[in-house]
Parts: sequence; C-alpha cells; structure tokens
Amino acid sequence: MKQLIFALSICLTFGVTAAFADGGADLYAKRCSKCHGADGSKASGASGGTMLKGLSVDAAKGKLMGYRDGTYGGAKKKIMMRLTSKFSDQEIAELAEVIGGF
Ligand code: HEC
Repeated sequence: MKQLIFALSICLTFGVTAAFADGGADLYAKRCSKCHGADGSKASGASGGTMLKGLSVDAAKGKLMGYRDGTYGGAKKKIMMRLTSKFSDQEIAELAEVIGGF
C-alpha cells in the first residue's frame, strides 16, 4: 500500500510540473482556440473580426491587461473582459507569450 501511495505521489508531482511548464499553451488550447483558432489565425464573427496572429508578446499582453481592467476593447469586449477577469498576471503573461509565438 505504501508503495502504491509513493508511486501515485510521484505521478502527481510530475503531472503538475508538466502542466505548469506548459501552462500558457494548455490554457490557450482550452480557453481561447475555440474562438481564435489553434494558431490565432481565425478572424470570424466569434473573434469580433480580430486576429491574434501577428500580435507581439507586448501587444497581446497590453490588450489582455486592458480587457481585464476595462481600458481596452471594441464592440464585443464584454466576452474578453469576463474571461480575463479570472486570470492572474502570470497567466496573462503566459498567454501573451503563446500569442506572440504564432
Ligand atoms: C467566446 C469567444 C472568445 C473566446 C473563448 C476568447 N476570445 Fe478573445 N476575443 C473575442 C472577441 C469577440 C474579441 C473582440 C472583442 C472586442 O470587441 O474588443 C476578442 C479579442 C481578443 C484580443 C484582442 C485582439 C485585438 O487585436 O484587439 C485578444 C488579445 C484576445 N481576444 C485573446 C484571447 C485569449 C488569450 C483568449 C483565451 C483566454 C480568448 N481571447 C478567448 C472572442 C473570444
């Protein structure tokens, strides 16, 4: 039994570390790709016609921070304000890195 618990805790530790290291990409895939596309190139009604591909890390970060504090946005900003309100600075920085890499 002790061995099983030991093996389980090893799995958990590695699992959590891997999820953290890949946090931004994972978060983007789960929470953003539906509207913006897996590589940020979708510019349809769902994304308000905006395209993430081509944004620099700084621009993406600035816009996400802007949505979160209500200083940035267009006609459909409420969608992004609601989403970003739940993100930490760390999560926004990680998401911006992902977007800057498209
Ligand atoms: C339900 C659809 C939807 C989801 C999910 C979504 N977005 Fe958006 N996103 C939009 C819409 C619509 C806009 C345009 C809003 C506006 O009018 O300002 C937008 C705008 C943006 C912009 C600004 C683009 C620009 O150049 O002005 C960024 C950056 C962005 N989204 C990032 C993200 C990230 C990161 C996620 C995941 C955490 C995400 N979005 C999830 C719909 C979505």
